[in-house]
Amino acid sequence: MNHLVAPSLLSADFLNLKRDVEMLNRSEADWLHLDVMDGVFVPNISFGFVIMDLLKSITDKPLDVHLMIVQPEKFIDEVAAMGAYMMNVHYEVCTHLNRTIHAIKEKGMKAGVTLNPHTPVSLLKDIIQDVDMVLLMSVNPGFGGQKFIHNTLSKLDDLKNLIIQKNSQALIEVDGGVDLETGKLLVDAGADVLVAGSFVFSTENPEERIRQLKML
Ligand code: DX5
Ligand code: ZN
Repeated sequence: MNHLVAPSLLSADFLNLKRDVEMLNRSEADWLHLDVMDGVFVPNISFGFVIMDLLKSITDKPLDVHLMIVQPEKFIDEVAAMGAYMMNVHYEVCTHLNRTIHAIKEKGMKAGVTLNPHTPVSLLKDIIQDVDMVLLMSVNPGFGGQKFIHNTLSKLDDLKNLIIQKNSQALIEVDGGVDLETGKLLVDAGADVLVAGSFVFSTENPEERIRQLKML
């Protein structure tokens, strides 16, 4: 399949969110990536359901919700109620990951599991068949605009092998430090979905940046 592009709203202009979401609606973006941070799992706080419910009402794109929070299982109903397409939870905070993944699916959403840069792919051996997507963090989560961690490419290789070996249908998404150079390496290595925040929004013409990422 051709890869998808999911711009992260974290790098948008928060005083002009409506303008930026409307730009994304016009763009070739496939999904809208929403980063929720709690100041506990990650050293930053972003936005929550009040903002996301408003965003949902003005976007045409499927919502790819990335929860960087402890106890994400507490919020499955809220994420489902806002009409999310994909709910991503971090491996590092889910004691009962199997239960959480199935609870997400029972609410009609796709279920993604996210790995921090230091968390090995091999830990997914007994859950890979149950998840719709694996999100590999290529920076330490919490902030936009960080440098891509190159070891992600070797994790991507491991993940591809695991998916094939276990006959899983999981997509591979990569998040953090994605630009045209790192994006090309990731697409060539088999990434299905590229998240990009600062690369998309740090320009006068974000639609063009999205188009360039789609062409990789
Ligand atoms: C980081 C977030 C990312 C972030 C990516 O914790 O999960 O989605 O917005 O930003 P860039 O593309 O600037 O690294
Ligand atoms: Zn993210």
